[in-house]
This record gives sequence, C-alpha cells and structure tokens, in this order.
Amino acid sequence: MQKNISEALDELRKIDAKDVDAISERLNDFSTMMAYYRCAIMEIETKFNVLNEEFSLQYDRNPINGMKSRLKSLASIKGKMEKKGLPFTVEDIEENINDIAGIRVICSFPNDVYMLADALLKQDDITLVKKKDYIENPKPNGYRSLHLIVSVPIFLAKEKRPMKVEIQLRTIAMDFWASLEHQLRYKKDFEFTENMAKELLYCADLSAELDSKMESLRKLTINDASEIDE
Ligand code: GTP
Ligand code: MG
Repeated sequence: MQKNISEALDELRKIDAKDVDAISERLNDFSTMMAYYRCAIMEIETKFNVLNEEFSLQYDRNPINGMKSRLKSLASIKGKMEKKGLPFTVEDIEENINDIAGIRVICSFPNDVYMLADALLKQDDITLVKKKDYIENPKPNGYRSLHLIVSVPIFLAKEKRPMKVEIQLRTIAMDFWASLEHQLRYKKDFEFTENMAKELLYCADLSAELDSKMESLRKLTINDASEIDE
C-alpha cells in the first residue's frame, strides 16, 4: 500500500541526523569505488587500443574488431553479495566480486585472442588473478571465450590502487553465438527446450568451424615471417 506524504515525512523525521551522516558517507564510499572501477576500465581499454595500433602499423590489419565495456550496477552487486551471504561493504565487495569492471574484446581471428591476451599479461603492471579458457575447453552448451581476471593499478594523486577487471576475449563468431544464445535463453515467458539447447550447441560447433576456416585463410595471407605467431 502506498504511504501518504505526511506518513512518509513522519518517518523521515524519525531518522537520526547521525544515521543520515552515516548513510551519506557510505554513499560517498560507493560512488568513489565505482569511479575507481571506471578508471580501471579506461586503463585496460587503453592498453588494448595501443596493442591494436601497434599491430595495425606493423602488419596492416586490426586484431581487435571492437570493444565493449560495462560497469556492474550497484543493485546487481548487492544481489551477488546477498547470494554469497556477504556484507555489503566496499572492502567485502572489492575482495569478493571480480566482475564489477568488465571489458569484452572482440577479435578478428582465434589466434588474435591468444596473441592479445599474452601481450597484455606480459606487461609488468598487470597481474593475472584467474584465467578460464572456454576456447580450449568450451562450456557444455558450446560457449567459447577466453576469460581473464586481471589486477591493474590506477594512479591517483596520492596513491596507486590495484583494481580487478574481468576481460572476455572472443572472436566475432564466438560473440555472435554468445549474444544470440543469451537473447534466446533469457527470453521472458518462454521455456527453453532441450532441443533448442542441442541446436544451439550445433550452431556453436558450426561457428567454431567457421573460425578455424577463416584462420586458415588468414595464414595464406601472411607474407611477413614475424607475424607467424603460432
Ligand atoms: P559470474 O557468472 O559472473 O558470477 O562468474 P563465473 O565465474 O561463474 O563466470 P564465468 O567466468 O564462467 O562467466 C562470466 C561471464 O561470461 C558471464 O557473466 C557471461 O557474460 C559470460 N558467459 C559465461 N557463460 C556463458 C554462456 O553460457 N552463454 C553466454 N551467452 N555467456 C556466458
Ligand atoms: Mg559475471
């Protein structure tokens, strides 16, 4: 039932001024945390842009087809903390959630995924926290991507802060499959059938075949020995 305005005002009057201060201090902490994660996204995006630029100068083609980034909403961070049974504090969030800052790097060819991941992980300010290779070992539903959780420092006026970022690297074909699979699987008021899952797995295998055919074609175009990365 909706409260009327005078009832709502009565409730607001009951809130202690100290509580208001505490709430506003916490809000400040959360918005600072989110700003730091936004900075970490910028750091990683710049690193990939630099690699793309270097590669395009050297070999006259772009290993990166596109990048998308997203910051997890506070509401979904809260939901994830509740599921894990953890308190909703900045410290606990930073320690337990790895995917607040997320970047998806869409690569041209399968080898570009590994070339870019290696080039990033070699950088001396990057620490690998976790790696899941769903290209080498696809998920049972057919999902393919290389997932990295890395820690990258952001440089503030008075401190250097390590921040975690989730990076998903995949080819255009893998991204095409994952985007459409997500749309189909989470369609409202529709029961996802076993047969659809089977068909989707078939599509995932077809797109992996397409990737490997494209990779073979790319190899035919290589005329510079230094580009032979495998
Ligand atoms: P969270 O799911 O984020 O709690 O962590 P996790 O360690 O279980 O995740 P994992 O690294 O396996 O996958 C994280 C992200 O990869 C998801 O949020 C999706 O963006 C993507 N992903 C993983 N599996 C699938 C899948 O089967 N289909 C699609 N479309 N995306 C997937
Ligand atoms: Mg996630």
